[in-house]
This record gives sequence, structure tokens and C-alpha cells, in this order.
Amino acid sequence: MSFDRFKVADRRFSAITAYDYPTARVIGELNPDIILVGDSLGMVVLGFPDTTHVTLAHMEHHIAAVARGVLDSGSSSIIVGDLPANTYETVDAALASAQRLIKAGAHAVKLEGGVDFEPHLKAIREAGIEVLGHIGMLPQQVLKEGGYKKKGKTSEESLRVFEDAQVLECVGAFATVIESVTPELAAQVTESIEIPTIGIGAGNRTCRGEIAVFHDVVGASPWFVPPFATQRASVAAEIKRAVQEYLDSIK
Ligand code: KIV
Repeated sequence: MSFDRFKVADRRFSAITAYDYPTARVIGELNPDIILVGDSLGMVVLGFPDTTHVTLAHMEHHIAAVARGVLDSGSSSIIVGDLPANTYETVDAALASAQRLIKAGAHAVKLEGGVDFEPHLKAIREAGIEVLGHIGMLPQQVLKEGGYKKKGKTSEESLRVFEDAQVLECVGAFATVIESVTPELAAQVTESIEIPTIGIGAGNRTCRGEIAVFHDVVGASPWFVPPFATQRASVAAEIKRAVQEYLDSIK
């Protein structure tokens, strides 16, 4: 799998999540640059209140299904697997966890943070594993931070995001997600590094690409839709309509 496209200056990048075979096969036919098997899996598929409940075994199971869907779609999309919370605390654990996700079928891994994980990121890269960064608001810190707090409202927060971005560039990440930061900070970080930034909740066209959670885009998980998400279909309502029609046909 070639990551060369991420070195092309001025190119824009498309990314979306998937967690199962049929979704990966349908999305794969559209060839987004990245299909992320995100740990958002925990919330939109497994029904947990946040991503901290996701395990490596959950990720392996869903990455393998997505890999089969991407393969059968003939897609050139890069499959990225999320390292779940508490699976990369030490350098050895980070490397072993990353290797498990690659073995399950991911082409690259993503973890949340930069400065705090520099040796971990270096070890993963030295083992030849491609890395997508994740900076800004870090959902795996939700319990520690007491909620999902947008970053970039203070100079300390902004500095930290810049430093995390620099670490990711230095270790050779092919790109980085930047989540829930002020649009100004997203634009400044994008200008300050060579690797592409992929935004979510970070303003309109402030980054070199966008990523979205599949369920938010199609309206498949209507109980919680993040304020920044644009819902482009109402799949939950359509499922209800079709299943009701089927149930009625039995009576
Ligand atoms: O888990 C996920 O889906 C993510 C995206 C929100 C970037 O990390």
C-alpha cells in the first residue's frame, strides 16, 4: 500500500470511518483516501458511553471485517486502525498493540497524542508501521478532562497542539487528525507542518482534509449527533420504515 499521495503538496484528503464488511465494501467503491476503523466503534456500534471501553480484541475483530470489505471492493483506500485507550501506555505495549492491528488487516495505526508518546511513536515507526496522528481534543481523555472540551482557547492549549503536531512530523507520521480545535488554531497548525492535517470539528477548510464518523454522515446513530457533524441522510428512519413495512406484511 503506497502512502506517497500524502507527500503531494496542495492535495486534499478524504477520510471516513467504517466498522463492518458491508459498509467498508460500499465505501471502498468510492475510494476515500482513508477508511478509519476508529475507536468511535465503542459508541456508534457497541453502545458504550465513550471510547475508553474499547479493547484491542474489539478493534482486531472489526478491522478484519473492514479489511475484507475493502479488499472485495477493489479499493485503494488506506485502512487505519485506532489503538484503543490503555493499550499504548509503554513503548513495548504500543509496539505490540500496533503489530496486532496490522496483523488484523490495518495498513496503519492511529494513537492520540504527540509529545507524551514520542518514544512510543518512534518505536512503531522503526518497526516499519505507518502512523496517523491524532491531536487537539483527545476523546480517550474524556473521563480525565470531564467532557469533550474544544482546544485552542488558551495559549497553553494552542502551544501543546503545535508541539504535538511537530512531534508527529518528526517521527514520520504520514498525516494527522486534528479534532475539535478553534478554526484559527487548525489553520495555523496546518500552515506550520508539511504533513497533511485532517480536520474534524476544526472549522471549514482549515485543514488539508476532513474526516467524519460514518454514522453521523448517514444518520445511522441519531441519539447523539456532534454539533459540527453534517447529517446527509436519515438511515435510522429508513431502517424503521422498511422493517415496519416487513412486520406489517406478516400480519
Ligand atoms: O474514532 C474515531 O472515529 C476517530 C475520528 C473521530 C477521527 O478518531
